[in-house]
Amino acid sequence: MIGIETSNAPYLLEPFELSRSLTLRNRICMGSMTRNRNTNANKPTSAATQYYTDRARNGAGLIVAEGTFISPTGSEWLHAPLMTSLSHALAWKPITSAVHSVGGTIFFQPWHEGRAQNDLAPMLLETSYPVLAPSAIPAKAGKYRFLPGVPGHTSNITAMTPSHIVDVIAQYATSCSLAKTAGFDGVEIIAQGGYLIHNFLCTRSNTRTDVYGGSAPNRCRFLLEVVDAIAAVYPMSRIGVKIAPCDNVADIACSYPELSETYTFLIRELVRKGIGFVNLSRRGCAKGEPNDDFSDSTTRPDGMELPTGYEPLDEFGPLVKCEGSRTKLMVNYGYSVDEAEELVKQGRIDLITFGRPFIYNPEQDLVERIRKNVPFVKNDRGGKVNYGPYEEVNENYNDWPTAT
Ligand SMILES: Cc1cc2nc3c(=O)[nH]c(=O)nc-3n(C[C@H](O)[C@H](O)[C@H](O)COP(=O)(O)O)c2cc1C
Repeated sequence: MIGIETSNAPYLLEPFELSRSLTLRNRICMGSMTRNRNTNANKPTSAATQYYTDRARNGAGLIVAEGTFISPTGSEWLHAPLMTSLSHALAWKPITSAVHSVGGTIFFQPWHEGRAQNDLAPMLLETSYPVLAPSAIPAKAGKYRFLPGVPGHTSNITAMTPSHIVDVIAQYATSCSLAKTAGFDGVEIIAQGGYLIHNFLCTRSNTRTDVYGGSAPNRCRFLLEVVDAIAAVYPMSRIGVKIAPCDNVADIACSYPELSETYTFLIRELVRKGIGFVNLSRRGCAKGEPNDDFSDSTTRPDGMELPTGYEPLDEFGPLVKCEGSRTKLMVNYGYSVDEAEELVKQGRIDLITFGRPFIYNPEQDLVERIRKNVPFVKNDRGGKVNYGPYEEVNENYNDWPTAT
């Protein structure tokens, strides 16, 4: 049944039942985006209420809020949010309420950066909290502009003990409980980006010899335990997992056979659990529209090349869209409206994430453009629009013109 018969993207714009208790008004998701504007002690301000509400009004079926730290973090983004106390939850409440008041749905994204941190960042210096990762193997890249010399990620890493693992899984659950208090409708777990969960998945960053390292099932164990812990807070059908099998951000690429084996096992397990959705990114596989400065991670180390023309949706999509699966499939990275519409029409995906277009096209404008087949506005302001620097939080955040 098609919702809006006259639209140029009728499939994308039709309502979509994510779970029995949650119907989204369309299949369009605003991807989680760190915007580095939580200037009130890592809590959002009224600027964030405006930003999310503008994009929810008559807009996306689902918004995933920016990645939010579950513990003190040595981040490149000093003004990313933290969710460790009731005061954090209460600061998000006006945002979730405002999104709901205009008919939107908003999910929380718990975030642990793993080895992609710098221990000289203020939050870690203040708390003496260590940089935890599965193994003490430094990540390449990173750019800590606020530190002298602009260093990369730290090599001062503490390999997680079994008790660290228990503690961090509990931090995931606690942050999600607080998110529930804050009024979030569900959770998307970030398992990509070179961050903690991704560090566990890949042998390049995980050389553990216990039950969390070695085989694919062992490397997936940490994520699957995080999922189970969060499922004690939110129904499994309201939890999504975001993965990027081909990504090489923060030096995380693995060989193709490892990639194939790991993600095949992982996706089958997630589907078996009845996870709400898998959000599959094709970042790193050279498909989609040309990359901008956000991060082109297609260059892979020798011996870790992908098969020519590789597209992860071809390999992993059928594992989600299979008989008996309750799990929905979302995709992201460089998709156009036409490509997403065609994939939904063919029954190959259920949901589409747009990330960058939601920065430059305030939401009511973006969905209206899809409805009327008007091209998205492109960013003509350069790379600093993403994370700053900015003179004032609203700059490049709440000052994009509405064209329609
Ligand atoms: C400025 C910026 C910040 C981002 N921050 C996050 C984040 O916090 N968590 C996450 O899962 N993805 C993050 N992403 C990735 C987006 O959610 C999305 O997956 C990606 O941009 C691909 O979609 P697009 O090609 O439509 O932009 C970020 C992307 C951008 C551009």
